Amino acid sequence: MDTALWHPFSDMAVVREDEFVLERGEDVWVYDAAGNRYLDATASLWYANVGHGRAEIADAAAEQMRKLAGYSIFGDFTNEPARALAGRLAGLAPMPDAKVFLTTGGGEAIDSAVKIARRYHVVRGQPERVHVISRTNSYHGTNGIGTGVAGIEANRTGFGEILPSSSRVAYDSVDALRDEIRRVGPERVAAFLFEPVIGAGGVLAPPEGYVQAVVDVCREYGVLVIADAVICGFGRLGTWFGVERWGVEPDLITFAKGVTSGYLPLGGVVVHGRVAEPFWAESGTTLRHGATYSGHPACCAAALANIDIIERDNLLQRGQLLEGELAAALQPLAAHPLVREVRAGVGLLAAVELQPDLFERLPSAVADLSLLIRQRGVLTRTLAKALAVSPPLTIQRPEINEIAQAFAAGLDELALKAGS
Ligand SMILES: Cc1ncc(COP(=O)(O)O)c(C=O)c1O
Repeated sequence: MDTALWHPFSDMAVVREDEFVLERGEDVWVYDAAGNRYLDATASLWYANVGHGRAEIADAAAEQMRKLAGYSIFGDFTNEPARALAGRLAGLAPMPDAKVFLTTGGGEAIDSAVKIARRYHVVRGQPERVHVISRTNSYHGTNGIGTGVAGIEANRTGFGEILPSSSRVAYDSVDALRDEIRRVGPERVAAFLFEPVIGAGGVLAPPEGYVQAVVDVCREYGVLVIADAVICGFGRLGTWFGVERWGVEPDLITFAKGVTSGYLPLGGVVVHGRVAEPFWAESGTTLRHGATYSGHPACCAAALANIDIIERDNLLQRGQLLEGELAAALQPLAAHPLVREVRAGVGLLAAVELQPDLFERLPSAVADLSLLIRQRGVLTRTLAKALAVSPPLTIQRPEINEIAQAFAAGLDELALKAGS
């Protein structure tokens, strides 16, 4: 049946009469309208970290909705869930005296972080510091600034020039960042934006020493460091904000997804006390920025209940424990003739990348493989040349093996289709 719903990142000419309708979820399982069960190997879009169907989160949100569903936090207005969530996240953040700016998702968090960084330089008397450097292959959402800094070329081009004062450097090179800061002129660079492990751009872990080294380079030149933990946070890398793995202290951290495990939309920016200080200490430095639903009480109540579950069920530790298991289960796929590489081992996420020559014979190879795996009851996420895996942190070992088996069988069938 034809649909009126325009799906994001989707070829509507194909999808319009062929939608895949999901109806309910329970832990790592989701069910379609016909009652078929699927293993959610990607936690939806990398976010259902505590799994599906948690009644406690639904109850917390519903209780808050009955009390006060929504109210703005502009000016001196606030509500208890928003205050409590900010306090809790500030306490968990790997930076002293953190402040928390709340948004409705990750893309809005990116735009907020970059605007805070630019305003910080303005109030500190360096208004020419506006340039933002990001990395090739990076994904920072599809709001204005996130589109402007996108390291996945196809997501940035075709919309006209969105953020002229920005540039990208090779995702794996510290020297490239240093050279770019010098080329632009350090006095013009506001911030460097990076995902600890690149997600949508292919699941690319940083080279050894990279994270510490880029933070050092930024410190040397007075450039603010924005860690985009939208995917990496809330247990995906086994810690609250991902970056703790490398022992660094960013100036700003963006988060979303796992903060509510997607039960309601929420994101935000954790800001180092030093960066927030001029705004908090001096009147007249108002940040003229923020969306209607910032600090939405029902969303914040859902986040608090979600964080309770992560703590109570030791899901950060579980993420650490399972990252090796996931890597071990998927690594044998690297021997398959259609597979170029399996990337896994840093966090509970992985990518299985296909051989480049396969795309000459079968341009739709990634989508085809995803469908073949879905037909075996496992949902994966298509990337440009790979399929991603990032299951809920509650996944069990037999289910991890089920993912690997579905990949192996799907790859064999794809090989038949590709005539190899
Ligand atoms: C690293 C990263 N940053 C930002 C975003 C944007 O988040 P949202 O889709 O909630 O706007 C995403 C979304 O996938 C992401 O992966």
